[in-house]
Order: sequence, then C-alpha cells, then structure tokens
Amino acid sequence: ATILVLNGPNLNLLGTREPGHYGQVTLAQIQRRLEETAQADGHRLLFLQSNAEHVLIEAIHQAPRDDVRYIIVNPAAFTHTSVALRDALLAVAIPFIEVHLSNVHAREPFRAHSYFSDVAVGVISGLGAEGYALALRAVLSRLAQDHS
Ligand code: DQA
Repeated sequence: ATILVLNGPNLNLLGTREPGHYGQVTLAQIQRRLEETAQADGHRLLFLQSNAEHVLIEAIHQAPRDDVRYIIVNPAAFTHTSVALRDALLAVAIPFIEVHLSNVHAREPFRAHSYFSDVAVGVISGLGAEGYALALRAVLSRLAQDHS
C-alpha cells in the first residue's frame, strides 16, 4: 500500500533547529529510515515537507488519487492553528497518525491544543525521531490486519 508522510513548517531545519526540543536527527535521515522499513514490508512511502499550508492541503487532496491508505503527519506549528489542514484530512477520510518529536504537553500551554488529535487514529508526542518509526510500525500492522 501507499503511505504518505507529511511534515509541516520548519521541520526542514531538523538537525540544527532547537536540538534540545527536536534532537539532532535530520529530516532526510528520518525519511531514509522510514523508506527502508516500508520497502522491506513491500509498501510505498510518499514523503513531503512544506512550510506552506496550501502545499500540505493540496498533498492531502492528491492522496486519494495516489491511493494513499494511511497518513503520518507532523503538522508542526499548524498543529495549533490550522482548521484548514484538519478539514482536508477529514475531507479525504484517510486514517492518520499525528506525530510530534517533542512532548507538546510539557512545553508552552498553546502547544497542548491540537486541531488534529481528536480525529487522529493515534498521537505520538515526545519520543523524538523514533516517533515516526513507531507510527509507521503501527500503520504496517494495521494494514496487515486489514488484509487478513
Ligand atoms: C512539533 C511541535 C510543535 O509545537 C512545533 O510548532 C513544531 C514541531 C514537534 O514535532 O514537536 O514545529 O510538531
């Protein structure tokens, strides 16, 4: 199956951006690891980072045409602001897992609210880059269950 991984604004700077919150792993390293895992399991990974809300929205609109079965999304700062991204995910009705590198509940109060969590299959927050790998593992086991 095809799995879409979306990353929001400033995540292109992973590796150097506030390493105390986000660690030293780069987004390219995260992408490579996820692609290896997906390919080993016979799945296809689409990976996109954008600093622009509309690019992320359009990628979500495109997802059904690409036969995307699951989305893993770190909306970054849009987590706390974007009704539009939430609505896009609801519009395509593709199940998704929300991932945050940092523990958003241990930081500024405005990060505790997410426009995504109540409609996500699950949320992973605070486990660093490992969170993406854990999300992909959950996706792969769910896809395997769907086929049994
Ligand atoms: C983040 C948490 C957000 O609050 C922040 O705006 C980000 C990254 C995370 O992965 O921990 O850009 O989503």
